[in-house]
Amino acid sequence: MGLWEGLFAARTQRMKASDIREAFKLAERGDIISFAGGFPSPETFPLDEVAEVAEGVARQMGATSLQYGPTEGLYELRELIAHRMTGEGVPCRPEEVLLTNGSQQALDLIAKVTLDPGDAVIVEKPGYIGGISAFGNYEAAFWPIPLDDDGLQVSFLEERLLENRAGNGRPGSGPKLCYVVPNFQNPSGVTLSEERRRRLVELAVRFGFAVVEDNPYGEIRFEGSPRPHVKSFDGDGRVLYLGSYSKVAFPGLRVGYVIGPEDVIRKMAIAKQGTDLCSNTFGQKLIVECEKRGLLQRHLRSIIDVYRRKRDLMIEAMGEHFPKEVHWTYPEGGFFIWVTLPEGMDAKEMLPRAVAEERVAYVSGGAFFTDGSGPNTIRLAYSQAPDEWIVEGIRRLGAFLKREMARRKAGARPAGKPPLEQEIGELSRTF
Ligand SMILES: Cc1ncc(COP(=O)(O)O)c(C=O)c1O
Repeated sequence: MGLWEGLFAARTQRMKASDIREAFKLAERGDIISFAGGFPSPETFPLDEVAEVAEGVARQMGATSLQYGPTEGLYELRELIAHRMTGEGVPCRPEEVLLTNGSQQALDLIAKVTLDPGDAVIVEKPGYIGGISAFGNYEAAFWPIPLDDDGLQVSFLEERLLENRAGNGRPGSGPKLCYVVPNFQNPSGVTLSEERRRRLVELAVRFGFAVVEDNPYGEIRFEGSPRPHVKSFDGDGRVLYLGSYSKVAFPGLRVGYVIGPEDVIRKMAIAKQGTDLCSNTFGQKLIVECEKRGLLQRHLRSIIDVYRRKRDLMIEAMGEHFPKEVHWTYPEGGFFIWVTLPEGMDAKEMLPRAVAEERVAYVSGGAFFTDGSGPNTIRLAYSQAPDEWIVEGIRRLGAFLKREMARRKAGARPAGKPPLEQEIGELSRTF
């Protein structure tokens, strides 16, 4: 046993490398068409305009732009966010906004201030792996609730809560949190219906849990009308709303935020002081200036067109090249399409062969389940790949899936060890 084996905390036994982070490594390899990482398209970043704004920030703010800032974030940006949310049906004051290092940090801080080991957290099945991992790091016990085309199956959740209350669970064993990504969910692409949003908050009140509404993709809507925020149904401050500038603007700035009652925000700010003291001051100021100049609004309009085109290209190519036994979701926004292969297929086991034989990569869907299910599912991100790669990559993936299905029918094991397995050693283990 190595030195550190004996020094790690017990809770680290649950911490393992995320398949998504591993997928990022693939995305960096130029010769592979990767639909793995849910990155924004780098072609869309308005570098010249941002460079000009950044210079203005440094000159106008002077040394303050490079100094530590308030833990809660720049007041100017908190005001701006509070104003926008109020306009979107979530009355909000700047004091109810905490700026975080991406919304990922908000997930960590929420877990840090609410969860004791073994506390139950309701998660979507499949659910966002970063959320699952943030809650898992604080030793949450998961209640996975399945999704359908209208998002989290709230009736299913109600049954589970009633069963638990009726005695299947110990007193106090009800969930503390329910974590949902209501719009163009990562990984499935589905959107929670308005009716279910209302009912979810009703259930939260009835059964005494808080809701974490994580909405990094909501503004990237291609068609149809936006649903009201879950938090807009919140009468007593039990919904924590998470927003992010990562998908609508630039993830490298690491600017996200959480909105909640002031006492919760204060508690999280104290927890944040033990984590990073404050978030990126320069990045926050940059966002404020970009907003003031209308740059972010213009950027959002242009990326909606870009991602709609990419979604359409991918869906059309899937229709043309995928075997008819394969099913997929149709997202009205966001970055992801969720693919279901026939029962018995194992997307994780197939991945090294997809990379070796067709030089195409995806994320195997099993990573998004907390209960070991979903081996026959795949998440495809259309956000990052250039248009011509989308068409070519889906053609390759379709050919690969047809071959895999034919192999299965013939009862044949894939021939030999994929030549690339060595090369992608780490990946073949973690995917
Ligand atoms: C649903 C969801 N929540 C949170 C995040 C974290 O985003 P960030 O920390 O960049 O704001 C992501 C990133 O992919 C996401 O998909």
